Amino acid sequence: MKIEVVRIGQRLLRDDRVTTHVALVARGFGAERIYMTEINPEIKETVGKINNVWGGNFEIEFIEKWKTVVKKKKEEGFKIVHLSMYGEAISVAQEKIRDEENLLVVVGAEKVPREIYELADYNVGVGSQPHSEISALAVLLDRIQEGDQFEKEFPNARRKIIPTKNGKNVQVRETRD
Ligand SMILES: C[S@@+](CC[C@H](N)C(=O)[O-])C[C@H]1O[C@@H](n2cnc3c(N)ncnc32)[C@H](O)[C@@H]1O
Repeated sequence: MKIEVVRIGQRLLRDDRVTTHVALVARGFGAERIYMTEINPEIKETVGKINNVWGGNFEIEFIEKWKTVVKKKKEEGFKIVHLSMYGEAISVAQEKIRDEENLLVVVGAEKVPREIYELADYNVGVGSQPHSEISALAVLLDRIQEGDQFEKEFPNARRKIIPTKNGKNVQVRETRD
């Protein structure tokens, strides 16, 4: 299953930390790319440094209009999963979504345009209480991949953690292939 993410909207007050964390959750939980409308080159730099140390080719793409990406991905056969507290319960939607081939997951930053509810193939609620795009994305990605995302290798890593009960065990490789 190929998974990509788009974050639409932007708060009036810049929330770079939240945006960065949405990107890091997408990367760490198995997505290949994130599209975002918020143009802050530092976020690309931060994630680039993380790829460099911890491996993989996770990409950030800055976009002008979320709708263009959503429509293009639909044409390419991706199913659109929009995370919203008003959506269908995740425990009901998860089995159908697991059978899909390619997914574009849409998260908001603040109130999202009404249109996304119609464009989405699935509007999915992670519980029916407001929380955060970071938590909603993490829970969705875990439910649909059932933990498999954590078995995925990140190629060309300079650092690789060997999970251990006590302390830290990190394999270090100085050069990338
Ligand atoms: C801070 S919330 C915005 C909530 C806003 N009041 C609304 O009406 O959408 C930002 C994003 O977090 C995600 N989110 C927050 N709570 C959620 C929930 N319970 N289930 C699914 N997604 C949620 C949605 O993608 C939402 O657009």
